[in-house]
Amino acid sequence: MQDQGKARFAKMLHHRAEKLKKGEPVAPPLISATTYHLPEVEGASHVYGRMAMPTWEAVEAQLGILEDAPCVAFPSGMAAISAALMAVLTDRKRLIIPSDGYYVTRVFSAEILAAYGVEVIEVPTAEIATADVSGGAVVFIETPSNPGLECCDIALIAQRVRTAGGLLIVDNTTMTPLLQRPLDLGADMVVAADTKAPGGHSDILFGHVATRDVELAARVRNWRKLSGAVPGAFEAWLLHRGLETLEVRLERMCASAQVIAERLAAHPGVTNLRFPGLASDPSHEIASRQMSGYGFLIGFELPSGAAAEAFLAACPFITQTTSFGGTHTAGERRARWGDPVSEGFIRLSIGVEPVEPLWNAIAEALGNPG
Ligand SMILES: Cc1ncc(COP(=O)(O)O)c(C=O)c1O
Repeated sequence: MQDQGKARFAKMLHHRAEKLKKGEPVAPPLISATTYHLPEVEGASHVYGRMAMPTWEAVEAQLGILEDAPCVAFPSGMAAISAALMAVLTDRKRLIIPSDGYYVTRVFSAEILAAYGVEVIEVPTAEIATADVSGGAVVFIETPSNPGLECCDIALIAQRVRTAGGLLIVDNTTMTPLLQRPLDLGADMVVAADTKAPGGHSDILFGHVATRDVELAARVRNWRKLSGAVPGAFEAWLLHRGLETLEVRLERMCASAQVIAERLAAHPGVTNLRFPGLASDPSHEIASRQMSGYGFLIGFELPSGAAAEAFLAACPFITQTTSFGGTHTAGERRARWGDPVSEGFIRLSIGVEPVEPLWNAIAEALGNPG
């Protein structure tokens, strides 16, 4: 992480300090109240739980420091994504999304947005930088993409989209604001699933939208208030706690991912390994320019679906789950969801285990320690 990022993170850790009065708790209180004393509306800090709650506001303050932008909290990553898209696809009716990104965004676009008259165009992540973005399109990208870990050039796409009168949204879930800063690179909005590394303990769903455009932020906030897609106070409280250790967890996870990726790449049983931190990876050059760490996700192939399932079942330090970014190393054969990957493709999310026992377990499960 760059020095500026470290400074932002330190500031985030102390964000409550300046407002604390003597004797008040350092951790934010978990306030789940839906109603607030309201003899009159004028001057009330809180009115009703669907409009704002003190515990979400504590998390929005943290995320706002990390993103260096106003943030709007949502009950899941998909709630954040759908809010961002619904807020901008009113006057704009053309949407470009990655054909190889998180599949639920594609399903949401095809099943819901298309029914509202939006023209949805799918483009592979590697081709979005040269795609036709004319017509004031909303361009939605994910870099590195989940699960293929393909990267695209955010600054270049932002500039092309802006010139064409469009709007760029970046799903930054796989990186978090500590490792990649799409708003600094020219994106109009960031969306993210804080369910992943920011929460970090596989026990909450959460999401947020960040934008420095005051009008866009107001539209997203209005969408949340009117649609009722509001986060719960307990989830916000847990995310606040999770965010406090995000930097140290990411440091371990990224360092271990680099070691594991290098060793997996050298293993004779493994093919088509993708990790942007390897000099041989097709995304390495873009990743090195726009990311301040290579992340904790690795993709690779085993010879068949059966071989992949057997590996996952045999490794005691890989939990078989369909998420990523948690403290436990997790693995999944993504073809089981219909992702456009081979039957033997595995997405690994490296956790915070000490790296040597983790590697030993992986090597042993591969059956041919490399
Ligand atoms: C890249 C990406 N974006 C968004 C989401 C959606 O997040 P949530 O499950 O919190 O709705 C996911 C979930 O896996 C994801 O991988």
